[in-house]
Amino acid sequence: MTSSAPVGVFDSGLGGISVVRQIRTDLPHERILYFGDSANAPYGTKTPEQVRDLSFRIVEDFVEQGVKAVVIACNTATSSAVQELREHYDIPIIGMEPALKVACDRGHGERQSVIVAATPLTLRERKFAALMHRFEDAHTIHKQPCPRLVEIVERGELDDHDLVMRTLHDYFDQYDLAHTDSVVLGCTHFVFYRDYFRELLPNNVAIVDGNEGTARHLEVVLESLGKLAPEEQDGGVILRNSDPGERIAELAQQLLER
Ligand code: DGL
Repeated sequence: MTSSAPVGVFDSGLGGISVVRQIRTDLPHERILYFGDSANAPYGTKTPEQVRDLSFRIVEDFVEQGVKAVVIACNTATSSAVQELREHYDIPIIGMEPALKVACDRGHGERQSVIVAATPLTLRERKFAALMHRFEDAHTIHKQPCPRLVEIVERGELDDHDLVMRTLHDYFDQYDLAHTDSVVLGCTHFVFYRDYFRELLPNNVAIVDGNEGTARHLEVVLESLGKLAPEEQDGGVILRNSDPGERIAELAQQLLER
């Protein structure tokens, strides 16, 4: 595979476009092939086996198209499938997990109170349990599944301010936000809600996501293999989706340009 080959990026639907935007900013020469599996979204309420099968199908397709690396722009698919995918394919596979470490490190040794917002499946999986285990003695960690936030993006309702704020209040009013240090956006769909979270949360609460870290990780991996795109190459994005409808294609484009 040459360094000018594309990077395959996938998600259960439209959320991974938030990761694509970060990669575009940080690695502008890369060509990105994006696949959103909106016909099968959400992944977060499926079984790990179902998510694993869907992920394998997508990566198999990417490999046939000659990608030089894959980014799983989905915390849920990463927790269910990254290990098996890495065992099966010999191209680099970059996964995502809720940025709990970033949130806890913000305290520089002080106990932090952190809410991790993610899908039900991410929060149930062994991968997250292992991550939580590393930090739960030194910090207070709350797990908050937010499946409706995925649906709102997929239905194109992200601009419905009342609906979004109502939904956020439903999930977060139960917390003592004045004594919360950060909220981790542990699902790539949730990154599109950053401004809404800012409106909901007191100023003392940081909003943390894993997108920058993922783009950096991709850069480090490609660089170590000598596979970073040549600087004279014009980067770009091709958006594909398992939902053949016009509406989803338009939504995807809007989110990319948002
Ligand atoms: N965007 C996905 C994630 O980062 C999953 C959303 C879903 O399909 O439930 O976890």
